[in-house]
Order: sequence, then structure tokens, then C-alpha cells
Amino acid sequence: MQTRAQVVTLISGRGSNLSALLRQQEAYEIIAVISDKSEAYGLEAAKLAGVGLVEGYGRAGYSSKSEQKAAIYSKIRSLNPDLICLAGFMQVIEASFVEEFYGRLINIHPSLLPELSGLNTHQRALENRLKIHGCTVHFVDSGLDTGPIIAQASCPVLESDTEESLATRVLELEHRLYPWVLGALAGKEILIEVDKGSVGGKVRFSKVAIEEAGRFGFVLGSTYGH
Ligand code: GRF
Repeated sequence: MQTRAQVVTLISGRGSNLSALLRQQEAYEIIAVISDKSEAYGLEAAKLAGVGLVEGYGRAGYSSKSEQKAAIYSKIRSLNPDLICLAGFMQVIEASFVEEFYGRLINIHPSLLPELSGLNTHQRALENRLKIHGCTVHFVDSGLDTGPIIAQASCPVLESDTEESLATRVLELEHRLYPWVLGALAGKEILIEVDKGSVGGKVRFSKVAIEEAGRFGFVLGSTYGH
């Protein structure tokens, strides 16, 4: 019997993306949820969903931030998952860890990258009078929201939008896009050809992935960006 792809998810907060990922475990199985905040609500959601390993690594338990992150990395190494999903994990991942897991480490970001990397994306989308906004799932490299783009989902920005209304609409897109991408990666419908000797690579999509993305209104790679 073919085993499902083993996934570790890293969170820092409410974990609504985590909950969406948990609801759609078919091609993948979330074997562990790890947080850098002991009080992250997402940890409770993971326990309720029956995830086998749910652990908070609060900053207070460590003498430095680097020790805290080293403990998280060491746990992930011991689990050796097929994929690591960042879902609202508010820490920079060290380049050495990125290199070690390059091609297995993915993130969701609330903008149509490469537009609006970093924080406060909804506020900036309104300030910049963008007509279209959305979210991106990408492989993580050592830059800030710069890794190869896997897929994007978009929505129009309305005249009447506030930061909250826009955030709500984009979050709904995130909850559809992220589980689909994870399922497609787990099912090998999306692959990255990793460049030898460096962090980088080209994302490839199967016919099935292209057809499904079209049906769901997702764009593969970066089309909205520059
Ligand atoms: C999401 O908007 C995600 O794109 C960003 O952080 C937020 C996390 O929200 N990286 P949640 O914890 O999944 O609800």
C-alpha cells in the first residue's frame, strides 16, 4: 500500500490554514504540528484533530532565539518528513535549514508575490490601490518570500474594501489553495527540479495539476506578478 506523504506543519498563531490542511488530508498526513508560541490556538485545533505530535516550543523555555529554533529544527530532522508547511510561522528560517530541506519546505503568503512581500499585505494592497490581490504558495528559499512560486489565487479589490474585508476574502482563498497545493505535491502532480549545487529550481506541473488548477481558478507559477 502506498503511504501518504508525511507532513510537518509549523505555526505561530490561530492556525486557520492549518485547520484547512487538516480537513483535507487525503494524499498527505499531518504527522506533527509545531509552534514557536506555546499558547498558539492552532495547537489546540491540532490536538482536537488527533494529530500524533503537537508541540509548543515557547521562547521562555530557551536562553536564546537561536536555541529555540535549533530545538524546532532538531525535532523536524528527527521526523524527517516528506514536506514541511509553514502556515503563519512568524520566524525567519535559517539558510542552512532551508538548504537541508530545499524543495520540501513550502509557505503560504497573503499577496500575489512578488508584489507585497513582508508584513501588512492587505493594508499595503489598499494603500497602493491594487485592483487585484490574493495569495501565493511557494517553495521557501533563504530570501524573504522569494522562493519559486507554485500557485496563486486572486480576487478583485473592491472600492468598498477595508483591510478586514480584504483579509477575510484572501483568507478564504488561502484555505482553498494551500490544501490543493499540498495534495498535488504529495501526489507528485507538482515537482521541483532542484538545481544541483545551489538553492533554486524549476517547478513542473503534471497535466492533472494544470487541469485541476484551471477548474479551481488557481494560476500555476507566477502570472500575476512581473
Ligand atoms: C495567513 O494569512 C498566511 O498567509 C500568513 O499568515 C497568516 C496565518 O493565518 N503567512 P492562520 O494562522 O493560518 O490563520
